[in-house]
Amino acid sequence: MQQFGVVGLSVMGKNLALNVKNHGYSVSGFSIDKPEVDALAKYEGDKLKPTYTWEEFVNSLERPRKILVMIRAGEPVDQTLAKLEKLLDKGDIIIDGGNSNFHDTNRRVKALKEKGIHFIGMGVSGGEEGALNGPALMPGGDEEAYKEVAPILEAIAAKTPTGQACVGYIGPEGSGHYVKMVHNGIEYGIMQIICEIYDIMRNVGGYSNEEMSDIFAKWDQGALQSYLVEITSKVLKQKDTLTSDYVIDHILNEASYKGTGNWMLEDAIKLGVPITVIAEAVMARFMSKATFRDDPEPEKLPGKVPSDLVDKLAKALYLAMAVSYGQGFEQMTAAAKTYNWKLHYDTIAQNWEAGCIIRSAMLQDIKSAYRANPELQNLFKAPFFDKVKKEDIDALREVLKLATDAGIPTPTLSAALNYLESIFNPNLPQNLLQGQRDYFGAHTYLRNDREGVFHTEWYEEK
Ligand code: 6PG
Repeated sequence: MQQFGVVGLSVMGKNLALNVKNHGYSVSGFSIDKPEVDALAKYEGDKLKPTYTWEEFVNSLERPRKILVMIRAGEPVDQTLAKLEKLLDKGDIIIDGGNSNFHDTNRRVKALKEKGIHFIGMGVSGGEEGALNGPALMPGGDEEAYKEVAPILEAIAAKTPTGQACVGYIGPEGSGHYVKMVHNGIEYGIMQIICEIYDIMRNVGGYSNEEMSDIFAKWDQGALQSYLVEITSKVLKQKDTLTSDYVIDHILNEASYKGTGNWMLEDAIKLGVPITVIAEAVMARFMSKATFRDDPEPEKLPGKVPSDLVDKLAKALYLAMAVSYGQGFEQMTAAAKTYNWKLHYDTIAQNWEAGCIIRSAMLQDIKSAYRANPELQNLFKAPFFDKVKKEDIDALREVLKLATDAGIPTPTLSAALNYLESIFNPNLPQNLLQGQRDYFGAHTYLRNDREGVFHTEWYEEK
């Protein structure tokens, strides 16, 4: 009997099955797509069993069965669950490792519980390579069921620089997929921030692709160490196979997306969380698809480029990245409160420290901040990040001035500055907004000098 099963054997499912086998657990694989099973069959052996029917697959597994479903999110997951639940027994465990919407996961956890089947919604990050060699895993759902699968998940997960597995129980219901959704929102934010830094570097600094690649590579050796900075360096220096140029100069500048970053926004609006950097990153993808673009304008180079531009860009990038993470954690804090989930933010930061797309050195500091204060309401209230803000905000301001003078759009960098300038500002102008609301709609307002709810008779009835 096999210890683990995987349904869906496209590249992610296949690589995860191989990862399980490579860690000494026996695994069965099944797909409704026969060529996918044939591809897995090349690795057949004691520890790996390709199966060709639902029944053969389910019957090959020891009980309680532990089944990872790795298929396209949405309707196909419901179809797969409908097939499986007829064949499974009470106490069996299904893990959905796709990028499912947390609302769907909430519904599925409940529906399967009624049938005595445990359902774990698990975020998986790290792409094909991570799936094979160590992904970051974000499992949510029934905690007892999680304990059953924990040894296998811990074995296959990526390990942090200090050796901890990048997996830990996130919380009930769809919280695992929620955290993956937030991961992807932060991913959108950091990617767009890096794009804007690149734009300023090439247009204000006049750096070549090779030079920029070297700058990102150097940053990756220091405080900015992160997967996204590392791959930026590699993307920038890649030569094209169709021309003698760099491939980056021939990639069409219109962003695609599958949408998990967008979902984060939908819930942020529902919860009232100001995740401005992530919102602008989503909108920047939309703007890149605008069809009314003019012909390129002549470059507007700013008068004087500071000699320490690269250092300023590094600081701006570091601070804006911290805002992207900070907003993600702020949204998780709000979600935990509204949905009644107990989330462990230090565990989440640790789960992201290796294996996933947003892994970075900064996550160690985020983990420490939440470990020191599990009730932290805003990342920038932690002493480390308060200091980062104080030290780097002037560089961010200066970089934004240069970009503005050069006509370079900076939606996420500006959003990061505006966020920091807003949330700690005791003199925001929304007193006027409240006055306006009360004027036209008698919506009332609070005062800063006494308790109670007030309304002013703004004009005389004629
Ligand atoms: C990961 C990635 C992964 C995928 C995103 C890309 O963590 O491994 O986030 O889930 O690359 O779906 O999202 P977009 O297609 O929306 O950019």
